[in-house]
Amino acid sequence: MAPYPPSAYTLGAGPVLAPKDMDLVALEASARGALGEMAYAYYSGGAEEGRLLTENTSAWQRYHLVPKVLVDVSEISTTTTVLGEEVMVPVIIAPTAVQRLASLEGELATARAAALSGTVMTLSSLSSTPLQDVASAGQGAPQWMQIYILKDRARTKAMVEQVAESGYKALVLTVDAPVSGLRSHEIRGGVHLPDDLELPNLANASAARAQRDGFMAVVSQEFDPSITFDDVSWLAGLTDLPVLVKGVARGSDAVSSLSAGASGIVVSNHGGRQLDDAPATATVLPSVVEAVAGRAEVFVDGGVRRPSDVMKALSLGANAVLIGRPVLWALAAGGQDGVTGLLEWFTHELRRTMALCGVRSIDEIDASFTQRVPTST
Ligand SMILES: Cc1cc2nc3c(=O)[nH]c(=O)nc-3n(C[C@H](O)[C@H](O)[C@H](O)COP(=O)(O)O)c2cc1C
Repeated sequence: MAPYPPSAYTLGAGPVLAPKDMDLVALEASARGALGEMAYAYYSGGAEEGRLLTENTSAWQRYHLVPKVLVDVSEISTTTTVLGEEVMVPVIIAPTAVQRLASLEGELATARAAALSGTVMTLSSLSSTPLQDVASAGQGAPQWMQIYILKDRARTKAMVEQVAESGYKALVLTVDAPVSGLRSHEIRGGVHLPDDLELPNLANASAARAQRDGFMAVVSQEFDPSITFDDVSWLAGLTDLPVLVKGVARGSDAVSSLSAGASGIVVSNHGGRQLDDAPATATVLPSVVEAVAGRAEVFVDGGVRRPSDVMKALSLGANAVLIGRPVLWALAAGGQDGVTGLLEWFTHELRRTMALCGVRSIDEIDASFTQRVPTST
């Protein structure tokens, strides 16, 4: 495994901060061509009319970054820690299902790219590669495993044991999918699991169901819609791993999650795939951060598309962001190198954003760097 990229760059005398450009719109178009329409419909869509999909990205644009000037920014570091583990950049790979739809190597390629870039990959429990194989491929950087509490508790428990044995550093419990959102694009696009792919972390029947009836059927028939905060306690009691609760939009739910034994919160609306009229994550992040009040780490995903969005999220109090669809586009268009390139871009251009804002390290980013764009009346 190649070593992590250097974390501190000298902007003046040393290596120059050469521009690294990335056109995410072109990347998505190229991914679409590689994916074909069915896989593209699955990856790209949001729930119902896709309002939240648009809103998640535009909400970041409703914050300005307020630069500080005359700070010596000749040395910039994007290194930070998440749950006590060092990462080279506060950009984490969000769990997204069935990455072998995007490339043959699927989750293995993503895990290798994350390890090379020195950041966390979160594996979906609906991955198309066994969690043990992904753990081996991603050695060299911490990895997290996303989990749903299934109606089949024995299966859930067995998965937790496998996750711990395989060396994952955290469990990410997704709670915003008690039932599936109405994924019109999936219904209209006839989205289903191709016959040559599997869902090896779930029961054999799950893959057969996803092949026959699509992914919404797996969510609705296998995920337990009765779970409450007591089940967060149940899960946390099964393992020594920290449990993050993903899919939180309210401060009070964050506080209840922590009281139930969670170690952190992911502010998320599942990339706009569940409740179409939920608020954008950039909008609710500050209230969750306020309620958590420094007692635990808070992460956020949804519509993060630019290094400046990362800077905004950190300024609003997040410890790191997660990115979903951009990784899928990079994987489909360029495989492992594509994902490595995307993470390099985020890292490299986050340095530029930090330099332009007058901050040299992640811990210097505070609330003073963001300001809401005034609304016109
Ligand atoms: C195709 C796709 C599959 C996803 N699968 C899962 C999943 O299995 N588990 C989960 O917790 N979230 C899942 N998500 C949600 C992501 O983890 C994340 O919350 C979301 O993609 C972030 O928004 P972004 O795509 O705008 O970056 C999925 C998202 C997409 C686009």
